[in-house]
Amino acid sequence: MDRTTRATGADARRSSDAGAPSSGRHVLRERATAVLDTNWTGASTVPSRTLYPHQWSWDSAFIAVGLRHVSPLRAQLELETLFAAQWGDGRVPHIVFNPSVPRDAYFPSPDFWRSTTAGRAAGAPHTVQTSGIVQPPVHALAAWLVHRADPGLSRSRAFLSRLYPRLAAWHRYLLHRRDLGGGGLAAVIHPWEQGMDNSPCWDAPLSRITPAPASAFRRADLDHGAPADRPTHLDYGRYVRLATDYRDNRYADHLPGDDGFAVEDPSFNALLIASEHALAHIATELGAPTTARHARAERLTAALVDRLWDPTTGMFFCRDLRAPGPGSLIPEYGVTGLIPLILPTLPHHVTTALLSTARGPRFGLGSPTVRLVPSYDLTGPSFDPHRYWRGPAWFNTNWLVERGLRLHGEQTEADRLRTAMLDTALETDFAEYVDPYTGQGRGARAFSWSAALTLDLLHAEP
Ligand code: SER
Repeated sequence: MDRTTRATGADARRSSDAGAPSSGRHVLRERATAVLDTNWTGASTVPSRTLYPHQWSWDSAFIAVGLRHVSPLRAQLELETLFAAQWGDGRVPHIVFNPSVPRDAYFPSPDFWRSTTAGRAAGAPHTVQTSGIVQPPVHALAAWLVHRADPGLSRSRAFLSRLYPRLAAWHRYLLHRRDLGGGGLAAVIHPWEQGMDNSPCWDAPLSRITPAPASAFRRADLDHGAPADRPTHLDYGRYVRLATDYRDNRYADHLPGDDGFAVEDPSFNALLIASEHALAHIATELGAPTTARHARAERLTAALVDRLWDPTTGMFFCRDLRAPGPGSLIPEYGVTGLIPLILPTLPHHVTTALLSTARGPRFGLGSPTVRLVPSYDLTGPSFDPHRYWRGPAWFNTNWLVERGLRLHGEQTEADRLRTAMLDTALETDFAEYVDPYTGQGRGARAFSWSAALTLDLLHAEP
């Protein structure tokens, strides 16, 4: 690894404090670029050389957003490599495996997912091994931002015209095969699909899942990550059970029985809607019809508010489709519920109430004692400042909140959050996640999306 990416927190703090802000920012830009260079494999970027040594779907989308400022060509390739592994039914797998990485470097490995056999009916590719579940659809948004970084290169490579049908098929899969609740939103069938694996939002639906026995698998994540920063063994037992059942049902999509997991999530659907808006821009660029796309984004926004907004608390919650009746809202305040702030046509009263929740004691936005927006309610009984998605602050969710603040005209608050993110990135050497109060780094370092989104924020210097 390049030495410049290995600065300790203390070194980083010195360089941030010592120089004028612009030289500190220059160092930050160089180090972020070095992380993306080190993590580039030739066709895509690993999220982390140690913990996540393959290609991950939503990571690649966030990485492309930052990589476009360094190399628009690599940013295009990042998305193209991912979509080359798309399944015939339109799904984009959450992991594309690198065959040169040893099998035991990551669990679950290709021999667990068995995509080329168990995924055959759903159209899994023959030439590459993948997982069979999905991740949040940030890709059309990323593709549009990548195009805008260098429209000339994009047009000369037919980047958007080649990707557009694949992006459209991906959204069709989510809107049709994954509308398990029948209300127009996409459902996730595994916490890994939503991306915030061990969020307390999943505790109630997961409590119904019988875990796979510990003897059935070996966790590779603990070879690199501290157990106190990672999900528990009980969580993993349940993750393995759900993934095994889905695989054994040949990755067929239907509302699972009482022993299954099906949740409508605010962030997953908000990202789908933001990507629908981006697909409309892409269609305009390509001279394709756009009316249906805009109408779909509006319908989805209405469905999101109708099904997941709770006016009494001023928060978006997850809907548990396996709870009795038409499903029920899970009253846990995860950062997922703030992500609809990225939507341009959220009703005004919803935006106002949501901003007030973000500024309240649960998320501490703008509070002098809270550095970055936490992944979970600071006042919640399950809050843990160090354990993965049960409290730590993440760069991708903070980047989305920052974007949402700007979109709704809250420039001062957005500037403040941006500065806190840049300082934290430098001090922690692009940590995977941080303690939301102190900014102390947790999880992996030299984490690709932390570096990529830092570059994006630097590029958008107010
Ligand atoms: N986030 C999961 C992991 O920790 C799976 O994508 O491996």
